[in-house]
Amino acid sequence: METKLPLIQVKDLSKHYREDLVLKKVSVHIEEGDLVSIIGPSGCGKSTFLRCLNGMEILDSGSIQIDGVTLSRRHPGERLGAKFHKKAHDLRQRVGMVFQSFNLFPHKTLLQNVMMAPMIVQNKSVEEAEFVALKFLDKVGLKQFSDRYPAYLSGGQQQRGAIARALALSPKVMLYDEPTSAIDPARVNEVLDVMRDLDKEGMTQIIVTHEMRFAKDASDYIIYMEQGEFIEISDEDEIFISPKDERTRRFLKNFI
Ligand SMILES: Nc1ncnc2c1ncn2[C@@H]1O[C@H](COP(=O)(O)OP(=O)(O)OP(=O)(O)O)[C@@H](O)[C@H]1O
Ligand SMILES: [Mg+2]
Repeated sequence: METKLPLIQVKDLSKHYREDLVLKKVSVHIEEGDLVSIIGPSGCGKSTFLRCLNGMEILDSGSIQIDGVTLSRRHPGERLGAKFHKKAHDLRQRVGMVFQSFNLFPHKTLLQNVMMAPMIVQNKSVEEAEFVALKFLDKVGLKQFSDRYPAYLSGGQQQRGAIARALALSPKVMLYDEPTSAIDPARVNEVLDVMRDLDKEGMTQIIVTHEMRFAKDASDYIIYMEQGEFIEISDEDEIFISPKDERTRRFLKNFI
């Protein structure tokens, strides 16, 4: 019988900035369809981990495999050739990323924002790009706002627009870096609901979040990070009731 490989395999991933080792040989396997939350104190390396996964940052050493594309490096001094950069490009095609600050282009309408990448990156025609964009705007409940400029949308709506924009490139994995931190608390749920819906449809998602309730309710499991290490990878219920590591317990104490 054929055994299916995990969609994402990270092995001994390390990354430093100047003299700081920000990721210290982290490893994890993530199966297709999983929703994984990453929690941990400020500066522990959560955003750096996501940026390495989508090829925005180049790893020092270790390997990242997503949907059959492997980026690997033996040591930080290893020269990276055209082949490596081609693979980093291929990796980016498979990964959608959503940031805390939405990053929609202010001078373009919501529809234009979502249409842009499929036209530029995937050479889609205007008609095709518009079709795809409207499909995903509909999915996140924003079709009726297609012609609005970002300034005339709430934070929650802009973030749903940013999710539609990432989805329009048909990623295999969605990464979210604190997607609800800049949103009015009353509108946080509309963004989390989009992620819940995507989970039901089988999308693989990794979310860096301070929304402990969402992490607990929606995740398949939670990664607790501290000082560049994955301290604990635990079941979403288990980690709150009986964390395996004292450091996890100390961190979570502030939330319960
Ligand atoms: N481009 C960069 N150049 C230099 N240092 C950086 C860079 N990006 C991050 N760092 C440093 O790396 C460490 C990890 O940063 P990172 O942004 O990954 O943390 P984080 O866990 O996402 O924190 P937060 O919860 O505050 O967003 C921090 O000490 C940060 O100052
Ligand atoms: Mg961060």
